[in-house]
Amino acid sequence: MFKLGIVIASVREGRVGLPVAEWCVDRARRHARFDTALIDLKEVDLPVFAERTHPRLQQYESDTHKVWSAVVAGIDAFVFVTPEYNHGTAPALVNALDYLYVEWNYKAAAFVSYGGMSGGIRAVQMTKQSLATLKIVPIVEAVAIPFVSQAIDRESGSFKASEQHDKAAATMFDELHRWTTALAPLRA
Ligand SMILES: Cc1cc2nc3c(=O)[nH]c(=O)nc-3n(C[C@H](O)[C@H](O)[C@H](O)COP(=O)(O)O)c2cc1C
Repeated sequence: MFKLGIVIASVREGRVGLPVAEWCVDRARRHARFDTALIDLKEVDLPVFAERTHPRLQQYESDTHKVWSAVVAGIDAFVFVTPEYNHGTAPALVNALDYLYVEWNYKAAAFVSYGGMSGGIRAVQMTKQSLATLKIVPIVEAVAIPFVSQAIDRESGSFKASEQHDKAAATMFDELHRWTTALAPLRA
């Protein structure tokens, strides 16, 4: 079974990203075609990138960097659960991407994005440029959640997905599995 990493791109206190990612993990596990892990960039806790050498050389100096390398190397496909900040990529996600190169290569990725009217899609478009450089293949199928705050339950803090969100997630996982399979010979 391929390993799927669901990455929480927001590291803010009180982030909406956590309940949305928990919903995404739950749907991925129900979908049952991946071995799914939650990757929380708040826990990964990478400092702002300031490394001596280009990550493609894999000359990692800190333990945090080595751990991040091992985490990403062990995953076959990703779902980035992301907000948009000022119409762009969340800073913790840019940072986490920049830290590695080889470990990202030939992996498929999908997005669950959220925000106001845009549903975070401007951040998705912007992030795709970086993914292409890292030889990550971003797929078209996605979940976009506009006006996300209205879908957060006030009492429990959980994300209340609509039927469309659930359907879009299932379609996204199906297609992500196809691409993950197709890219397997390149990862080998
Ligand atoms: C610095 C900052 C910039 C933001 N820019 C946008 C934006 O461009 N588009 C948008 O839809 N929402 C924007 N928002 C609102 C976010 O969608 C909202 O705060 C959301 O909860 C952020 O996700 P998070 O809670 O997981 O961090 C912004 C919020 C912050 C803190």
